Amino acid sequence: MSEDHETLIRLIHQRLRYARQFDRLFQDCKGCWVRARPAENRDFRRILDMYDSFEPKASAQGLPPADPERRQYWVHQIISDSISVLAEVEKRVVAHACLIDMDRKAWGEMEIAVHQDWQNRGIGTELTCLLVDIARTFEYRRIWLTVDNLNRRAVHVYEKCGFSFIGPFETEREMEICFDGFKNQQVCD
Ligand SMILES: CC(C)(COP(=O)(O)OP(=O)(O)OC[C@H]1O[C@@H](n2cnc3c(N)ncnc32)[C@H](O)[C@@H]1OP(=O)(O)O)[C@@H](O)C(=O)NCCC(=O)NCCS
Repeated sequence: MSEDHETLIRLIHQRLRYARQFDRLFQDCKGCWVRARPAENRDFRRILDMYDSFEPKASAQGLPPADPERRQYWVHQIISDSISVLAEVEKRVVAHACLIDMDRKAWGEMEIAVHQDWQNRGIGTELTCLLVDIARTFEYRRIWLTVDNLNRRAVHVYEKCGFSFIGPFETEREMEICFDGFKNQQVCD
């Protein structure tokens, strides 16, 4: 990461710490109270715990890494270098998503994982919407992601949160969401 980039991410982290609107309490589909909020460095251990027990490993475009050392390094990197959000139930992290800045707010790449015990309960949708709200607030122009075409649940969640397909129809597809004014300038076609 360049110094510019580091400063940008540090500023966003600082502002997120005090931004109450991104700290959300909701009930999942089974009536369980879940808190979704921006992640901080001190959440490292609990996020790692989630990925350590996440199965199957390396299932979503090679993530989370199957090798424990690489996994630990990867979690450390995404918490410090990206905009990370998490969902927790009584202090246990059950889902994590992040927006990796690719070009100083011109666009970011999104990744998400909901622990297998907590999938299909509305948590992935809440977390995706939270990340989209944060990106919009911090004036990102575009969020981009790739998804396996057979991962119908993920595609459904992304579409519900405003993403649409771009690029050719292949096994792995690209999706994006563009924010106000950006599409009109036709920069993201
Ligand atoms: C994909 C993932 C992030 C979605 O999060 P989630 O919490 O399980 O999803 P939610 O419960 O919020 O929403 C699931 C939605 O998909 C729908 N759904 C479930 N299975 C589906 C399927 N096979 N086909 C189409 N829709 C499906 C549900 O009905 C629900 O939609 P609704 O709310 O409109 O009824 C999560 O399942 C996950 O982490 N999977 C493993 C890792 C992964 O695939 N990450 C994404 C890589 S791109």
